[in-house]
Amino acid sequence: MHVGIIMDGNGRWATRQHLARLIGHKNGAKRVKEIVKHSPGAGVNTLTLYAFSTENWKRAAHEVEGLMKLFRKYMRDNFDKLDENNVRVRFLGDPAPLAADIRQQMQDLTALTAGNTGLNLNIAINYGGQDELVRAVQKIAQKAAAGEIPPAQITTQTIDEHLDTAGQTDPDLIIRTAGEMRLSNFMTWQSAYSELVFVEETWPEFTPALYDRVLSGFRTRTRRFGAVPADMARAAE
Ligand code: IPE
Ligand code: IPE
Ligand code: MG
Repeated sequence: MHVGIIMDGNGRWATRQHLARLIGHKNGAKRVKEIVKHSPGAGVNTLTLYAFSTENWKRAAHEVEGLMKLFRKYMRDNFDKLDENNVRVRFLGDPAPLAADIRQQMQDLTALTAGNTGLNLNIAINYGGQDELVRAVQKIAQKAAAGEIPPAQITTQTIDEHLDTAGQTDPDLIIRTAGEMRLSNFMTWQSAYSELVFVEETWPEFTPALYDRVLSGFRTRTRRFGAVPADMARAAE
């Protein structure tokens, strides 16, 4: 099972307690550790965490810089731990605008954990579903222009294979914390048949116990993928 999480509400959590927004992000980073640790035992084999969107650059410079510092710290503090726990880390999004040292940490962590067979952890940094599609279309168009892919043979699979998630399954479940009911550019293509759960709790309040409750709720849902399930078809005869 693949779960995507839109980790929202760090700022509101902090503001409610008269704390700086960055304190909210720091507490959010603590939750990341817990939720990553909890995932394999909860039946989740791929976890995609939305950490920074292509639109988040619009925030105040000190908030963006604070978030970048937290990414550095998260990767430094968890570098060996993730590998010891057999986690395979990959990054989604366009790394180009990120600082060179962050890009290096991302490459090192990806390379270090590439052979791991436990949890697949995708961290989406400077990720936007639309930007991901644009980059995929550019790659496909280049191949088409070079005569490698005839345009008439472009299928949904071709697009899948050129996304940042190439080779991975689509998210079965997308969870968004902090009450907003939108995807904010998260997995635009891959979310076509994802189940969506919106919880009122902010990301710093998202405990493993709440995660378990969301997962058990998801397991009671009937996914139809556009078909009529056999039992419903029989009942209608
Ligand atoms: C999510 O929390 C973290 C990021 C988007 C990086 P927010 O910072 O969006 O928190 P709110 O939505 O303002 O409360
Ligand atoms: C979505 O949250 C992005 C991440 C959680 C990284 P935002 O807080 O940026 O989304 P909007 O602005 O409320 O749509
Ligand atoms: Mg937000």
